[in-house]
Amino acid sequence: MLVLGIETSCDETAAALVTGEREILADVVLSQLEEHRPFGGIVPEIAARSHLQHIDRLVAEAMAQAGKSFADLDAVAATGGPGLIGGVIVGVMTAKALALGAGKPFLAVNHLEGHALTARLTHGIDFPYLLLLASGGHCQLLAVEGVGRYTRLGTTIDDAAGEAFDKVAKMAGLGYPGGPAVERAAKQGDPARFLLPRPMKGKPGCDFSFSGLKNAVRLLIESLPQPLSDQDAADVSAAFQIAVADSVADRTRRAIREFNIRWPGGRHLVVAGGVAANTALRAVLIRLSNETGMTFLAPPLKLCTDNAAMIAWAGIERLRLGLVDSLDFAPRPRWPLDPNTRKAGGKA
Ligand code: KG4
Ligand code: ZN
Repeated sequence: MLVLGIETSCDETAAALVTGEREILADVVLSQLEEHRPFGGIVPEIAARSHLQHIDRLVAEAMAQAGKSFADLDAVAATGGPGLIGGVIVGVMTAKALALGAGKPFLAVNHLEGHALTARLTHGIDFPYLLLLASGGHCQLLAVEGVGRYTRLGTTIDDAAGEAFDKVAKMAGLGYPGGPAVERAAKQGDPARFLLPRPMKGKPGCDFSFSGLKNAVRLLIESLPQPLSDQDAADVSAAFQIAVADSVADRTRRAIREFNIRWPGGRHLVVAGGVAANTALRAVLIRLSNETGMTFLAPPLKLCTDNAAMIAWAGIERLRLGLVDSLDFAPRPRWPLDPNTRKAGGKA
């Protein structure tokens, strides 16, 4: 089985070819980082235009790298949502046109399902498992029970974790994207100099919240001499990073407890999303896994952040179950993985 995947829901334009034997034959990702950097964040119109400009070439590049033609494909999959709608439309229209032209099925993949199933592509693990997805747009804890079967145990009631990293970096004058900059600064900082709140720690349930912490950082920065010295910025970063790690660990500990009761067969704690790159966060999650008897599993970074291999793989998993989509599929800006979850304030 061979599927072409296309990803255009945020600020990465990507195309990949993946086989049913879990081989990635091509995995091309074009980051728009430099186009958005002057604005200190992603500008949706710029993103959509850039996807449109590059997607055809990236698909051709992926096909050439894999040495395959469209006739070799079993299906064409694209992210159908959730995401910035202009970009999602570009990917969906491209995939529909290719599928129609080649006479192959079209698959609309939920971007979150792509992240959720990546550990099966990289490590071949069985269902069920617990997933912590922490990126610029999402922060969720999910029980992954099967293809199309997800139970959301927790989500953010305001900002995503990555969004908080990006805003703190901006406030501390550390640049964009914020996560890596905050992590770098935190290495030089003293995490004990300032004490920041641990959002939601000890609260029932597994939801996240980062906007109060972000505000606390803003007030802290305003109380310091301006412009911030390198040492002050480093100490603020270290205090913020440890607060996030502590809060995420508390939420994940509760989710593990719930997961073990409801899905006793599951053993893996899987992380995905750009924030999973953070070594301080990884360290607390590894410690937590050891304490709770879970096996910690992180796909390689390139497959944790946005990519098209995960979309192609989710397409393969869906195709195996006969879950193809019609060319009438309408791109979705919001698309929760678990349709039964109560509405939370955060992103889908
Ligand atoms: O998954 P991703 O590449 O894109 C989506 O948002 O879907 O995640 C990007 C986010 C950004 O907010 C970025 O600041 C954050 O992940 N990030 C990090 C680190 N590297 C990237 N956050 C904390 N520590 C890092 N090392
Ligand atoms: Zn993503």
